[in-house]
Amino acid sequence: MSCEDKIGSSTRPLRVAIVGSGPSGFFAAGYLQKGPLAIEVDMFDRLPTPFGLVRGGVAPDHPEIKGVARVFDRIAAHPHCRFFGNVTIGKDLEHDELARFYDAVIYAVGAQSDRRLGIPGEELSGVHAAREFVGWYNGDPDYRDSSFDLSQESVVVVGLGNVAIDVARILGGSHASLCGTDIAGHALEALAASRVKTITILGRRGPAQAAFTNPELCELGGLPDTDVVVTPEDLAFDEATRTAIARAEDPTPRENIETLGAYASRAPSGGDKRIAVRFLVSPIALHGRGRVEAMTLMRNRLEPDGRGVMRAVATGETETIPVGLVLRSIGYRGVPVPGLAFDRRAAVIPNAAGRVLAAPGGSETMPGVYVVGWIKRGANGVIGTNKRDAYETVTLLLEDFREGRLRGAERRSREGVLRLLDERGVAVVSYEDWRRLDEIELARGRETGRPRLKFCRVEEMLEAVRRARPPRAVVANWGPLN
Ligand SMILES: Cc1cc2nc3c(=O)[nH]c(=O)nc-3n(C[C@H](O)[C@H](O)[C@H](O)COP(=O)(O)OP(=O)(O)OC[C@H]3O[C@@H](n4cnc5c(N)ncnc54)[C@H](O)[C@@H]3O)c2cc1C
Ligand SMILES: NC(=O)c1ccc[n+]([C@@H]2O[C@H](COP(=O)([O-])OP(=O)(O)OC[C@H]3O[C@@H](n4cnc5c(N)ncnc54)[C@H](OP(=O)(O)O)[C@@H]3O)[C@@H](O)[C@H]2O)c1
Repeated sequence: MSCEDKIGSSTRPLRVAIVGSGPSGFFAAGYLQKGPLAIEVDMFDRLPTPFGLVRGGVAPDHPEIKGVARVFDRIAAHPHCRFFGNVTIGKDLEHDELARFYDAVIYAVGAQSDRRLGIPGEELSGVHAAREFVGWYNGDPDYRDSSFDLSQESVVVVGLGNVAIDVARILGGSHASLCGTDIAGHALEALAASRVKTITILGRRGPAQAAFTNPELCELGGLPDTDVVVTPEDLAFDEATRTAIARAEDPTPRENIETLGAYASRAPSGGDKRIAVRFLVSPIALHGRGRVEAMTLMRNRLEPDGRGVMRAVATGETETIPVGLVLRSIGYRGVPVPGLAFDRRAAVIPNAAGRVLAAPGGSETMPGVYVVGWIKRGANGVIGTNKRDAYETVTLLLEDFREGRLRGAERRSREGVLRLLDERGVAVVSYEDWRRLDEIELARGRETGRPRLKFCRVEEMLEAVRRARPPRAVVANWGPLN
């Protein structure tokens, strides 16, 4: 190998594959581009569309958050960054194959499943993960054919996080306001016919322990024709607790309690719908003949766990409430990637600050394999959290490169990846294809008076890409759609 061929030089850039094009994958690509080395980044996503939860998770009525896609566009526009949409690692390509073509592989696959309550009746029809509902209203192709019985009057959302607030707001929002968002067409139609009247958000701990943040809680109070109902007794704290909340460094519990207090003292507006927020209750069973009809709740009290955390303890007092639709919103969960170890308890790929470990609890790392985002640290944190996280992982990757700890690609170039995908009949979607698809969605939106009308099925996306490609694009896009 000549001097010019040194890895990281312009004649032999460091080749990095990033699996997943959500925030953590894009931020990792951005940091690699800012570093001192010549780098080629290929970013794979199982969907034809990029951006992960920015497209498939962030609520449709939060368009300003989705603006981060412009940052990702700039990263994708780097001359040595390519997007391989519609390619699932673990199905279309295996980890070992990727490792042969690239000097390093970063997994940024997010959390593709969700936590379960583990209570009797959870299998009943009418009980869903909030993740499924979110995917459905955001046009994630995996949930295009899901259906939710919106003829029910009473919905319970279990969990006190921001996802619970999102789904309650979508259920409690007006049709007129949703029309001005990029919510999926099928969801807009179904929600227009919704007969939901009461949405109860409930959580096992108290208002001071709620995971939702204050701007999100405040938004609930701004929904037209929807009252937010809070029981004043839920906000009755003893003196010690009141002092602890007032002195706490994190202002969120204090702000949330103030907001909840304001809701508790509001006179009902007489609107059509109500969102009730309840604390210190855990669902212990779901009942119904064929479909969910009722939920039994255990009343809890709080007790210090000895490590500074207040935990919920059952009091033995129960109540049963009627419910026609249940959305459990108690957290997303990572899933294993074939070929890599998995920590089942934490639902992450085991890692040391981003370096993938050969086994959970061990110290041996897999050379050249990294993680970032929700699959690294668990399903927590906002978009910006993934920026710090990506910086940490990329810093270690570059350190490993300098110290000669990367195994290095076996193949002379990364082009063979495309050939392999082509041989396997995988219809690869490039970033140029995505930009065309994006334009088409925006145009469809303009035609219907909406900001965007999403494609919600993979086949429809691939067909639209095929039609939109200019005749010479097969060469330009290096990825014939078959
Ligand atoms: C409902 C919801 C709403 C949210 N709203 C906000 C908000 O308003 N503001 C905010 O700051 N944060 C919000 N967040 C948090 C934010 O979305 C996350 O912090 C962030 O998306 C995590 O990034 P990630 O890259 O780890 O995962 P993801 O965004 O999930 O990206 C993972 C990507 O990997 C791809 N992938 C998975 N498996 C494979 C595979 N085997 N092969 C190829 N590709 C694969 C997926 O298709 C996806 O594109 C929200 C989260 C949720 C769940
Ligand atoms: N607008 C936004 O910025 C936005 C929107 C959506 C999501 N996000 C972010 O995305 C991340 C994930 O959000 P999330 O709402 O899915 O998760 P989350 O913030 O972790 O909240 C999960 C909630 O579920 C509860 N829970 C967990 N296990 C439970 C069980 N077995 N029984 C009853 N309750 C249980 C938790 O209660 P305990 O505290 O008692 O465990 C908590 O209230 C968060 O960081 C969030 O801020 C941000």
